[in-house]
Amino acid sequence: MIVARNNERLKNSRAKLTGSIGFVPTMGALHEGHLSLIRRAREENDHVIVSIFVNPTQFLPGEDLEKYPRKEEADRKICELAGVDLLYMPTTDQLYHEDELLISAPKIRGYILEGAKRPGHFDGVLQVVMKLLNLTRPTRAYFGKKDAQQLVLISRMVRDYFMQTEIVSCEIVRDPDGLALSSRNIYLSPEERQRALALSRSLKRAAKMIQSGERDTRRITAVMRGILEAEVDGLEYVAIVDRDFHPIERIVEGESIILVAARVGLTRLIDNLWV
Ligand code: PAJ
Repeated sequence: MIVARNNERLKNSRAKLTGSIGFVPTMGALHEGHLSLIRRAREENDHVIVSIFVNPTQFLPGEDLEKYPRKEEADRKICELAGVDLLYMPTTDQLYHEDELLISAPKIRGYILEGAKRPGHFDGVLQVVMKLLNLTRPTRAYFGKKDAQQLVLISRMVRDYFMQTEIVSCEIVRDPDGLALSSRNIYLSPEERQRALALSRSLKRAAKMIQSGERDTRRITAVMRGILEAEVDGLEYVAIVDRDFHPIERIVEGESIILVAARVGLTRLIDNLWV
C-alpha cells in the first residue's frame, strides 16, 4: 500500500493505476462502517483509494474539530489489511489555499435538517469532496446512507457539475444492539451509550408502524418523539423526507427516509432509515 501525504505523491501513484478505481473518502478513526465501504470498493473495482482527512471547513466554530478522534497508525493497518492500494492522508495546506473560490450547498436541501443545525457544514463537505474526486478521479466513490443528506447532496453535485464519477450508496452498519457505528460513539459513556439506543429503537418502531399500514408521517414522528424524549438530552429533529429531501406528509415505500438527530450528553448523534 502506498501512503501519499502530498498531492505530488498522490498524482504519481494515481497515474500508475490502470483499470477501474473505487474511492472511499473518510475522516479516519475507521470502524466497521468505513470498512464495509472499503470492502465493497475492493469487490467492485481493480484498485481502491482511501482518503483520511479531518476536513476543517465542514466543522462549525465550537464543534469537535480539535478533539475529533485521530488514529493514524491503526487506520493505516486497517487499510493495508483491507487491500487498499493507495492511502491519501494530506495535510491541510495540500488541499486548501487562501481566498478560495467557494462551493455552496443548495439553498433549501443544503440548509434544512442537518444543514439547519450546522449551517455551512455541507458547503465544506461539498468543497472537500469536489477536491478529493478531482484529485483521485475514481470510477466509483462510496458513501454511507448513515449520512443521508450528505449522500444526496454529493449525488446532486456530481450530477449538476457533470462530474464523471458514479456515486455508490452503502447500507448503514450497526452494532448488534442497533447503535449505528460512528467515529463519535467513543465519546459516549456506558450510560449514555445505553440511552443512545433510543435513536435506532425509534426508527425500528417507525418501521413497525409502516409495516402495519401506517402512512401518516405526523403520527409516526409523534411516536418517535415519545421514545426519544424519554432518553436523549436534546432532540434536534425527527423528520420524514423523500429521496430528494423534501418533507412529506405520507410515506411512499421505496421513496422515503426517516431521520433523527439528538444529543446524548455532549455527543451529537444522527441515524436514519430508508423505507
Ligand atoms: P466520515 O464520517 O469519516 O465517514 C466516511 C464515510 O463512511 C461516509 O460516507 C459515511 O456515511 C460512512 N459511514 C460512517 N458511518 C457509517 C456506518 N455506520 N455505516 C455505513 N457507512 C458509514 O462523512 C465523512 O467522513 C466526511 O463528511 C467526508 C465525506 C469524508 C468529507 O470530509
